[in-house]
Amino acid sequence: MKASDFGSDFRWGVSTAALQTEGFPDADGKMPSIWDAFAARRGKIRSGHHPQKACEFYKRYPEDIALASSLSIPNFRFSLSCPRIIPDGNGRINHKGLDHYKRLIEHLKKHNIEPWITLYHWDLPQALEDKGGWTNRNILGWFSHYAETAARELAGFDVPYWMVLNEPLAFTGAGYFLGHHAPGKKGFNNFLPAMLHAALATPAGEQAIRLHQPDALIGSTYSCSMISPAGHSPAHLRAAEKADALLNRLFVEAALGLGFPFKELPFLRNVEKWMKADDEKNMISSPDFLGIQNYTREVVASCWYVPYLKAKIIKAKNRKVPHTEMNWEIYPDALYEMLRKFSAYRPGLPLVVTENGAAFPDKIEHNQVSDPERLQYLQEHIRRVRYAQVSGIPVKGYFVWSLTDNFEWAEGYHPRFGLIYVDYKTQERTIKSSGHWFRDFLISG
Ligand code: FCB
Repeated sequence: MKASDFGSDFRWGVSTAALQTEGFPDADGKMPSIWDAFAARRGKIRSGHHPQKACEFYKRYPEDIALASSLSIPNFRFSLSCPRIIPDGNGRINHKGLDHYKRLIEHLKKHNIEPWITLYHWDLPQALEDKGGWTNRNILGWFSHYAETAARELAGFDVPYWMVLNEPLAFTGAGYFLGHHAPGKKGFNNFLPAMLHAALATPAGEQAIRLHQPDALIGSTYSCSMISPAGHSPAHLRAAEKADALLNRLFVEAALGLGFPFKELPFLRNVEKWMKADDEKNMISSPDFLGIQNYTREVVASCWYVPYLKAKIIKAKNRKVPHTEMNWEIYPDALYEMLRKFSAYRPGLPLVVTENGAAFPDKIEHNQVSDPERLQYLQEHIRRVRYAQVSGIPVKGYFVWSLTDNFEWAEGYHPRFGLIYVDYKTQERTIKSSGHWFRDFLISG
């Protein structure tokens, strides 16, 4: 298998996010994001880690982009930090924050690397959270203003690909239902309005980008996991169906005009309390591509004591199957399955694997990091992308999560996902063997 087998228009790249890499939380007029505030609360992040330094990408981007270029990586996905651009959430634009991204884009271009921008990768300004954040319907106006500002100010910088939201289920589910992620809110009365507003923000953001970037290709990214029932009983099958509706179908179906999956998840109907007359129509977007983010599969069992869902995930460790440091099963067929599933929604609509990757406990020895498990993970998953392509699925790109090790949300700095190792004490970078392999793969022709 060679990269050239995928065709010359196939987009290879790496994915990153502002909060996880940038550090410098108050440089050039940035104000706190919900993650800065969340990390300051005791016990929220493993080992008390916080994102204040991360990989210092805000200042070290020339070094990291040079490393990406040395690995022959042609596409680079990053997110704009909303609290650098609209720091206090009242509409005031911070041009210094925008200037940073202009420099970053120019730098990428200088290295012949295409920028792919995610507008929102989970770092809401805390000032907006103080007003209810995603639970407040006014987020639609705040978000449109942010999207328009970014798209307008970066017009002329030739950014060909934009994504509106990163994994709406993850940030509304973990942030507003389970409380594991920022802002740490819980329960249906937070989740349902957040879910509704995130669904409405997708087309709103898309329209704002289109207004100022008429030539851009615009999508949004969706987390997805293949779901297998734990057994053949009708109860397990029903549990798997519900988990699939929640984890895979909810947001993409709303965006593609199919509405929320109320049939499988009747408890979602309570969202109607927050809905206005045209909302169902206004959730429909017109993406140029769908971003698919897959890491694993989940095995789901029927479980009477889990409220509403009546289903639970049986974690990989308990099933004694190979897994990554995130306790995510290594199951490459899941990526093929998800590409197949998402390709059925709108035949011909391009899919891009905007994230895929694995965390392993890497060690640096004699200035080298040998990570054969990650290398194999990537190879096997890329092979499934090729199977999908050969079987006629319009998959147009593949992005590794991530270029460097970085701040993995509530797990802090423990899981290392990078092709490049970061020594957080010295900020020294070391290309892992998977990074060298990826370069060889990319230039293989
Ligand atoms: C995804 C997130 C990304 C990263 C990976 C491991 O869900 O989008 O920021 O944390 O998981």
